[in-house]
Amino acid sequence: MMARRVIGAELIEQARQRGRVVFEILPGDIVTSLATETAQRLGIALVDGPLEKPVHPVTDGNTALRRGLYRRGAKWIAPSVSARPEAKRFGKIAIVGAGGVGANIAHLAANRDIAREITLIDIAPGVAESIALDLNHTSGITRTPSRVTGSMDMSAVAEASVVLVTAGRARSPGMTRADLIKINKRIIHSVAEVIKTRAPQALVIVVTNPLDEMTVEMLRVTGFPRERVLGMAGTLDSSRFRYSLAKAAGVETADVEAIALGSHGDEMVPVTSRAQIKGRLISDFLSPQQIEYCVNDAITGGGQVVALKKSGSATIAPAHSSMELLDHIRGARTGAVPASVMLQGEYGLNNVVLGVPALVGMSGLLSVEELALTPAELQLLVKAAESIRGRLGL
Ligand code: 2OP
Repeated sequence: MMARRVIGAELIEQARQRGRVVFEILPGDIVTSLATETAQRLGIALVDGPLEKPVHPVTDGNTALRRGLYRRGAKWIAPSVSARPEAKRFGKIAIVGAGGVGANIAHLAANRDIAREITLIDIAPGVAESIALDLNHTSGITRTPSRVTGSMDMSAVAEASVVLVTAGRARSPGMTRADLIKINKRIIHSVAEVIKTRAPQALVIVVTNPLDEMTVEMLRVTGFPRERVLGMAGTLDSSRFRYSLAKAAGVETADVEAIALGSHGDEMVPVTSRAQIKGRLISDFLSPQQIEYCVNDAITGGGQVVALKKSGSATIAPAHSSMELLDHIRGARTGAVPASVMLQGEYGLNNVVLGVPALVGMSGLLSVEELALTPAELQLLVKAAESIRGRLGL
């Protein structure tokens, strides 16, 4: 016979810390009234067990929703900020597109010395070469050994272990990212053809918008496995969400842990159920209206920059967010990182690229983390997947 357990408030709090939304009460368990109150306060359902063992998620959205309540996901832990000694240095990374995002990535990468060689590629004459020279001129001050090269020739991707693709048109005010599909699809196709032949072992990070759709196109044309084609957007959207929450609560962004999943667009899913301020639920600090404002602020963050700039989109935060993903890949950060990946059954979804928490390494995607989300959040993920499929005509 199993020993009778006394379920106190502390056990419920620990379950919440682990991201659980359901607590299983076994026959004979004694539940204290403080535990019941705590469960109610933290939004945890106390359900009579033993519960059925979860089966592996299947592909349709309804099943994903049903199973959402029972999924036990890992706790979201914000990546550690200090660089780890185990961090690897890349041999060569190539950045396709030397616009604002590409140039800023090259700047950060050279300054932090994350690679021996950083190659910038752009079809506009002199652009990549001039930025490369400009960056190399800083090395007398920064003393970092990274060298930057510039080229107009796409075949300069050869021998790069990572290729970041930022090439493409940026939005103008009033445009959605999805409005860029037609024009940027052509660019991604031609870039992908060259990567496929000249850097067949590379890990590709897509930054071009619309991000999720362009990641699908990159996968399709290169024929690379999903492990080697990732989309960068989740780090950016999560950073914007953290900034907004910190501003609303009047705390430092370092006090905020939060992620955004879903599409890099209107169907973004800033995850409020798991967001924390100073280790506590955000509802302890913010009203439902304030939380809704922050969610919307994260979703529209990129558009707000476009509206202010009048021409072109954000460059600095996307570059830092690309570095964050590179840092996870080279082991300078621990834990999962939000990235757009091709799903194969995770969250009950198949054959769609979507922002999810991912464990990554030098070889690319290692696994997708299935976080315990609320049914409403899961439903939003399913909706995002459907919209992306719809925009690609799948
Ligand atoms: C952004 O959200 C450019 O999509 C990028 O700012």
